[in-house]
Formats: sequence, C-alpha cells, structure tokens
Amino acid sequence: MAWKGLLSEYKQYLPINDQTPALTLHEGNTPLIKLEKLSKEHSINVYAKIEGANPTGSFKDRGMVMAMAKAIEDGAKAVVCASTGNTSASAAAFAARAGLKCIVVIPEGKIAQGKLAQAVMYGAEIFSIEGNFDDALRYVRKLGEKDDIALVNSVNPYRIEGQKTAAFEICDTLGKAPNYLFIPVGNAGNITAYWKGFKEYNEEKQTGLPKMMGFEASGAAAIVHNRVFENPETVGTAIRIGNPASWKQAVNARDESNGAIDEITDEEMIEAYQWLAANEGIFAEPASCASIAGLFKAMKENKVEPGSTVVTVLTGNGLKDPNTAIDYSEIKPRVLPNEEEVVIQEIMGSVLV
Ligand code: F0G
Repeated sequence: MAWKGLLSEYKQYLPINDQTPALTLHEGNTPLIKLEKLSKEHSINVYAKIEGANPTGSFKDRGMVMAMAKAIEDGAKAVVCASTGNTSASAAAFAARAGLKCIVVIPEGKIAQGKLAQAVMYGAEIFSIEGNFDDALRYVRKLGEKDDIALVNSVNPYRIEGQKTAAFEICDTLGKAPNYLFIPVGNAGNITAYWKGFKEYNEEKQTGLPKMMGFEASGAAAIVHNRVFENPETVGTAIRIGNPASWKQAVNARDESNGAIDEITDEEMIEAYQWLAANEGIFAEPASCASIAGLFKAMKENKVEPGSTVVTVLTGNGLKDPNTAIDYSEIKPRVLPNEEEVVIQEIMGSVLV
C-alpha cells in the first residue's frame, strides 16, 4: 500500500477530527538502516533513522504537517517561527502547500545555505536578526499571541504530537523499542516527542521503552551544565541554542527512561559526520551526527551494554549544509587538462594505487 503521510497513517494517535485538513507532503516512513560496520566492530545492533529522507530533508516535517493542519483548522492566516534553518524550511514548504503566509525569523549568518535556499524557494518572508535563535524565539512567541498568527515552533504542542510518530515507526520496524535511543538535543522538542511516542506505543502495544540518550554541542550545552548559554556556539548550527524551550521535558525524558544527556565537542561531531559518510554511506548534517558522536562517546565510557539494540536519530540531510562538508573535507577535486591521454593516465594511476 502506498504511504499516505502521517496524518492519515497514524490518525488514531493524533489530535485529528473532521475539521482537520488532510495536509501532506508524504512525510514520515523514513528508512531505518543498520549501521553494519559499527554494529560488527562493537558487538551491538546499531540502526540509523534517516530523517533527512523527509520531504524537506529533516524531521521537522513530522511536526510541521500536524501544526500546520491545526493552524488551518483554527483559521490562522499566517504562521510564524524562529529557526536555526530546518524548522523554517519545513514551515515554508507546508505553508506554501496550504496557502498560508509564512514568516520566519533566523539568526543572521548562522543558518546553513541549503536551508536558506529552501525558505527562499518556498516563498517565506524571511527576517534575519542580529541575534541568536533564543532571541528569535522570544520575539516570535510574542507574535504567536496575536490573532490570526499561529506559532509553529516546537513549543506548539501539535509539533510534538506529529514528531512522536518517529518513535512509532521505529517500534513498527523493529517489532519493539530499542534498548537505547541516541538523539541530538537543541531546543529539546524532539527528545520530548520521541519519549512521548515510545510511552504511548508501549501503553498501547507493550513495545517497551528505550533509555533516552540526548547530546548537546559543548558550546551550547545548557541542559548538561544546568545553566543558560548566553552566546551558544557550535559548527552544528542546527543546535546552536543556549536556552532550550523544552528543557524540563528533556530532563524528564532522561530521568524517566534512566538515560543521560551529555555533550560532544565540535571535533567529535565533525569526526562522526565524516566517519558516517565515508564508512556507512550516509550523509547527515553536522548537528545530526551529535547522535553518532554521542554513541562513540558512550561506548568508550562502557555505557552501552554489549548485545544491545541501539537507534541513532539522524535528524537532517547532509546536503542542507554543503559548505561545512566542503570546508572540512580533505578530498579536493583534481583539475586536469582536457586531454584524453592525460585524463586516462591520471585516473588509471589513481585506480592502481
Ligand atoms: N537536528 C537538526 C538537524 C535540527 O534542525 C534540530 C533543531 C535538532 C537536531 C534539535 O532538535 O530542537 O527538537 O532538540 N532545529 C530547530 C530549527 C531548532 O529551527 O530548525 P530539537
């Protein structure tokens, strides 16, 4: 049966009624790929949930389809969000499809090229502020209080409802919940949503519960250090957030699941990012790889039981941020003259090494 999108596939678990429009870009149903090399080397079963396979290239589509459908149902004329890039791309896409105006507020100079390209193409109105994500979120929260405008950041509970479906899909594919879920943490909506999803499915289908293992970037590790980071900084711009809105819910997910929230350095993030692409053939954006870097760290510290089933969430597609890929790569194209003999000789020389 062809996939019909989240609102249709998981209708009974979502706040949907007769007035809720059947909005979709066929989001969800993303691959769960076994990381063969990592699994073999460490005697665990590791899978990656490829959220970059969603229509706008990140997990945000899951929450956005729900939030946008409810905004339409409630008669909103416009949606507004603050974003480090992915939320704005997703909001702009679904708003275009739904015929709503979309206003996005982003931190100037701190969102990846691909994400900006998306917001532009989908026709959002873009305000780039000389502040960070936390500032932007403060402003749009004020706008969300006004009539006719729906705030579609993850402080909107419908976002969490949509995003919890990723946990359902993991349980559906594995037949039960994994032992551990490794996930990047920025504004902390996604870890909140996964935990809600795992709990609801466990109630309904006894699928069990994972330990929730969240990872912040060291330069933006508010939850780990239990203090607001006034000037968050990380190469993983998607999670460059110093005062996560769902802070309390993330701590709750950690504690209820007997999990952990830890930090990884930018060096660890980039190393995992490059390792994943070069060894498993999966290109995820830098912030996504906080989950892989986190797994490496947890394994080093013997925090993962041998024989366990582990799911890492890869939240966004690597193509979102081409500049970071190229800037950090040691591979550079070799320029050759347009002469057959030279081209063949050089390439054969490379094949035979
Ligand atoms: N990974 C990616 C690729 C993201 O874009 C985000 C958040 C996260 C992880 C963290 O998820 O905030 O739910 O803890 N991006 C938001 C945005 C903030 O504006 O696109 P979270």
